[in-house]
Amino acid sequence: MTNAWDLLLTDVQLATMVENASDYGAIRDAAIAVKNGRIAWLGCMDELTESQRQAADQVESGNNQWLSPGLIDCHTHIIYAGNRASEFEMRLKGATYEELQKAGGGILSTVKATRDASMDELALSAAKRIARLKSEGVTTLEVKSGYGLELNTELKMLRVARQLDQQDREIELRTTFLGAHALPQEYNQDREGYLEILLTQILPEVSCQGLADAVDGFCEHIGFSPEEISRLFVLAKELGLPLKLHADQLSDLGAAGLAAEHGALSADHLEYSSEASIKKMAMSGTVAVLLPGAFYVLREKQKPALDLLRKHGVAIAVATDANPGSSPVLSLLLMMNMACTLFSLTAEEALAGVTRNAARALGLGEDRGTLEVGKRADFVLWDIQDPAELAYMIGANPCSRVYKDGLASNVA
Ligand code: NIG
Ligand code: FE
Repeated sequence: MTNAWDLLLTDVQLATMVENASDYGAIRDAAIAVKNGRIAWLGCMDELTESQRQAADQVESGNNQWLSPGLIDCHTHIIYAGNRASEFEMRLKGATYEELQKAGGGILSTVKATRDASMDELALSAAKRIARLKSEGVTTLEVKSGYGLELNTELKMLRVARQLDQQDREIELRTTFLGAHALPQEYNQDREGYLEILLTQILPEVSCQGLADAVDGFCEHIGFSPEEISRLFVLAKELGLPLKLHADQLSDLGAAGLAAEHGALSADHLEYSSEASIKKMAMSGTVAVLLPGAFYVLREKQKPALDLLRKHGVAIAVATDANPGSSPVLSLLLMMNMACTLFSLTAEEALAGVTRNAARALGLGEDRGTLEVGKRADFVLWDIQDPAELAYMIGANPCSRVYKDGLASNVA
């Protein structure tokens, strides 16, 4: 029977996370069906007909557990070599992130280690970290380059991401080119020289090889100026690549507004963003990606203006920012908790932040991020009584089963 479902999952509580619904878009005592890796049907158990049930190839019970969309970590730097534990110790003694970076440490110390690493070394260490995220129900992961800052290492990082994506059907990796992450040491006295290489050689080559799904930059006084980022964005748009931006993390350079003016998918961090910038984000539909891990690790004091993001109706996502310096974090559930406790999101906003709005931050809002017919059958079964538990518990990991494209994974 051609209309038969590949999988019918019965006896679940659905947190559909559809837009404009209250209570997590919940459908209680429900079932969900999959055909060809997509959601083919969902509804209450009593709407399910016996013939539908009979015709399904496979029927599984969810044992009345909650089912959410697969989690999406929409901002990570998870491919890198080495670690920065010694910088952590220096920061504990009072050094700041900016001081370490200006002294040639910070991002640049990871650049050195990553340039020296082989593809296999990078793939192996990243896969271990990715396994932690998968165990918490992450089915889509964004990965940035930016620890190469020269052609070969930028290509190497992005190739590792593509390779990990192809080798593992349980998680999809989306790549972002972050050549404008820091000024490499060898161009210390020659900013213009690096920008020239970045814009005329590295980005065109990355684009030509189809290795990047988006382009990002670090707009900050220890990164790149708004004018420099504008030049990058103009070129990226010419190449047809969507934009993202590390914006207003440590100071207000109007970066979130700049990202919005260029129609960026997301502006990320946003601790210092002004209301004018936030209004521009609302106008352009640019998603606010909040990164409470970096805020916590750097002991920042200024929080993103959540009230203004809400007031102007900006979609809010939450991500790990997994990286060896400012956010050595491998738990998206912990980021949900921190987004609530540190930034005052509701538990429901936190879950929307790692599902619906995270999908949007990657330009994938039509394809995933909610439980709706036609969307990708990526979902997670949770051993919880109430979806608020996902943000409430710390270190619990109640993930009991993960489905990617309708197939159960072996991760939980
Ligand atoms: O998102 N802000 C710049 N990039 C990263 C930090 C990367 C690093 O310190 O290695 C961030 O916080
Ligand atoms: Fe980042």
